[in-house]
Amino acid sequence: MFIIVDTLILYTDMKVNNIKVLMTKDGSHTLLNIALNESYHAHNGALSESKYVYIQAGLMTQLALKKQLNIVEVGFGTGLNTILTLAEAIKQNATIHYTSIEPVPLSLALIEQLNYGQWLTPKLAELYLAIHQAPWEQDVAITANFVLHKYRGEFEQFEFVGQQTDLIYFDAFAPNKQPEIWQLANMQKCAQLLVADGMLVSYCANGQFKRNLKAAGLIVKPYPGALGRREMTRAYQQVVKY
Ligand SMILES: C[S@@+](CC[C@H](N)C(=O)[O-])C[C@H]1O[C@@H](n2cnc3c(N)ncnc32)[C@H](O)[C@@H]1O
Repeated sequence: MFIIVDTLILYTDMKVNNIKVLMTKDGSHTLLNIALNESYHAHNGALSESKYVYIQAGLMTQLALKKQLNIVEVGFGTGLNTILTLAEAIKQNATIHYTSIEPVPLSLALIEQLNYGQWLTPKLAELYLAIHQAPWEQDVAITANFVLHKYRGEFEQFEFVGQQTDLIYFDAFAPNKQPEIWQLANMQKCAQLLVADGMLVSYCANGQFKRNLKAAGLIVKPYPGALGRREMTRAYQQVVKY
């Protein structure tokens, strides 16, 4: 059974733990957090948005500089950014240590409802499952060149003593839904985490978010947004010529 809401198809028979599976306009699924009334990806296309913001504007830019990266993701969610990163790493023969932070992990039953397998090779579909089955709080080699560390908790509590990262995917729920995660203290934490030629990418181009990044000492550059959105955010430790 399904109903149409704002051109999205809402599968009411897939409701698990206050979360529903939605169809986005590129045919890929996203999830709706019912309590927040907030979806995990753009309604115009979950897969297209992830590919554009995090893979093209983020990962591919950093892979042009070096083939060994440490990545931190704020908001593991469906693991879509993780599997797309792994796919690109395989394509480019890159070595990646990927830390993903998530306070509210999704059930495997819910993950299995998502249609991302349609865009993945059978091998990548297997790896997507492996990503979700990987235990939390430890390094897990998903492939020989891709180590995943899932941290169960909030970014605010994430401890990174001595750890630095080349790339941050800041993929939290929108500032009007979860303002606390976009606060200055978290941007200062990002700035401390980033190496000298490191970069943060986010779908979000909220003014206060960008001011907080600047106040944290990062250089914020305007960048065209995904799927007709005017802008997304890329922020750097220093000016790097790409
Ligand atoms: C917009 S969704 C994106 C998820 C993911 N990147 C994906 O592709 O599915 C935001 C995610 O951030 C998580 N989140 C909420 N509060 C957080 C916090 N304080 N620290 C880290 N992640 C948080 C949510 O539970 C949710 O999974």
